[in-house]
Amino acid sequence: MKLRDKVVVITGSGGGIGAACARRFATEGAKVVVTDIDPRAGDISDESLWDLSWQLHVMSHVHAVRQMLPSMLERGDGYLLQTASVVALATHPDKAAYAVTKHAALAFSEWLALTYRPRGIKVSCFCPGPMLTPMLLSDGIPADHPVVQNAATPEEVAERLVGAIEAEQFLIVDSTMGTDSLTAKGVDYERWIADMATAINS
Ligand SMILES: NC(=O)c1ccc[n+]([C@@H]2O[C@H](COP(=O)([O-])OP(=O)(O)OC[C@H]3O[C@@H](n4cnc5c(N)ncnc54)[C@H](O)[C@@H]3O)[C@@H](O)[C@H]2O)c1
Repeated sequence: MKLRDKVVVITGSGGGIGAACARRFATEGAKVVVTDIDPRAGDISDESLWDLSWQLHVMSHVHAVRQMLPSMLERGDGYLLQTASVVALATHPDKAAYAVTKHAALAFSEWLALTYRPRGIKVSCFCPGPMLTPMLLSDGIPADHPVVQNAATPEEVAERLVGAIEAEQFLIVDSTMGTDSLTAKGVDYERWIADMATAINS
């Protein structure tokens, strides 16, 4: 799908990837709607972290779809680009709530794609690795760490997403890390668990 003259609503576009996509999609001639909230949450309990992760990484998509889908179905045309993470295809050694809710975000995209494709709705799920945004930099990883050094810039990501939207690709990744995990799980799930357990605990 070409972005020219499309109305594009981007949640979380006050910073990071959202802001970079808003700028880039606008240069493609899209009419971009920027929305954002700026949570200033301090240290929070584990229960609250799970609740916040569910709201932030899953229900945010559900709320957006509830708002956008009815008019798309009426038109018989629409595009939902949802951001999960490479963690949705593999896992995250230290962040259970993040890993679990990102898997849920991918599952929701999958369900939407299967359910609404016959009614003209295209769905993409973006499962990126590290990206150079306040989120990554707030993780306390040193600037000279390979994760930061090799992270994609928001502008590079926005460029990649324009191409993926034109190709109407469901699964959008920026490395083979996630798809390799997916393949390994499909081939020998027991082996994948054993290998990941060794890797994470060594
Ligand atoms: N940065 C990375 O390395 C990385 C890697 C994989 C996946 N992701 C995912 O990419 C997405 C974007 O992350 P980012 O790196 O651009 O983050 P970021 O923190 O740099 O920017 C996120 C923006 O969203 C806004 N926001 C936060 N909660 C919101 C809400 N409930 N409603 C509306 N706006 C909200 C913030 O104010 C901020 O402007 C997230 O879903 C994140 O999990 C990021």
